[in-house]
Amino acid sequence: MIRKAVFPVAGWGTRFLPATKASPKEMLPLVDKPLIQYTVEEAVASGIELAIFVTGRGKRAIEDHFDRSWELEYVLEKQNKREQLNEVRSISNLIEVVYIRQKMPLGLGHAVLRAKSVVDNEPFAVILGDDIIDSEKPCIKQLIEIYEKFEAPVIALKRVPDEEVSRYGIIKGRELDERLFLIEDMVEKPSLEEAPSNYAIVGRYILTPDVLEELEKVQPGKGGEIQLTDALRNLANKRKFYGVVFEGEHFDCGNKLGYLMATVHFALKRKDLKLDFLQYLRRVAL
Ligand code: UTP
Repeated sequence: MIRKAVFPVAGWGTRFLPATKASPKEMLPLVDKPLIQYTVEEAVASGIELAIFVTGRGKRAIEDHFDRSWELEYVLEKQNKREQLNEVRSISNLIEVVYIRQKMPLGLGHAVLRAKSVVDNEPFAVILGDDIIDSEKPCIKQLIEIYEKFEAPVIALKRVPDEEVSRYGIIKGRELDERLFLIEDMVEKPSLEEAPSNYAIVGRYILTPDVLEELEKVQPGKGGEIQLTDALRNLANKRKFYGVVFEGEHFDCGNKLGYLMATVHFALKRKDLKLDFLQYLRRVAL
């Protein structure tokens, strides 16, 4: 059973400056809902019971978002805004949360390792708020199903075009099934010549506690950061683990173009916005 999910949210978000100077990247909205809420809802829909946020300086807004807001609820109640009141309340009831500080953003691997004491020797999910996936079956649920079959770590994969391989971690793997790979190796942000495949790692993982032991041994790599990929590479030499080409539409919201595409995608799914927004898009596209 995968009950816990780690949400590393302590990064600088430099690609979104100046928006991220004083507020977290994870609180950027797609239409009217912050990125982090999309991913927490995905976790809840996948059966996750505890969200472990690894936070840092300037990330208080995330804590407030998942907490009760008595003043706001009071005002909404007075104004008889029932719908908004219910919505605001439901966010604070979504899931049990724990916050851990990453004192310095020393990399994704370092952030995940901070969660070790709360993970407490159980398999767990890691979900990156930058990666928004719209799918019928939640992406992390798709990974959990593979975990349940093999009881081994599972990572989410996406086939990317040549011009995008240098933006992702890329795997070398053996295709076992149409959407299933046995991972043999991985390279972080390779050039096209170095890339062993076109399968990119997307920010969803099911990890086992031995990954944390590997992380403890990892030395700082590219940019002085402790990379999760390095721990996973070392693990690939020791045990089997898997990659799943998930079903669903993925948006890399850590970069501006991906974020804008996601905004359009989710706006067009909204009944209250779709027609007017489409008309506007048609007008500007001409
Ligand atoms: P990114 O590298 O995409 O995020 O890390 P970033 O560093 O915040 O963004 P840029 O590159 O400067 O624009 C992926 C996720 O891992 C978290 C980030 O918050 C993000 O959600 N992260 C990254 C940490 O929690 N700690 C870190 O030390 C690094």
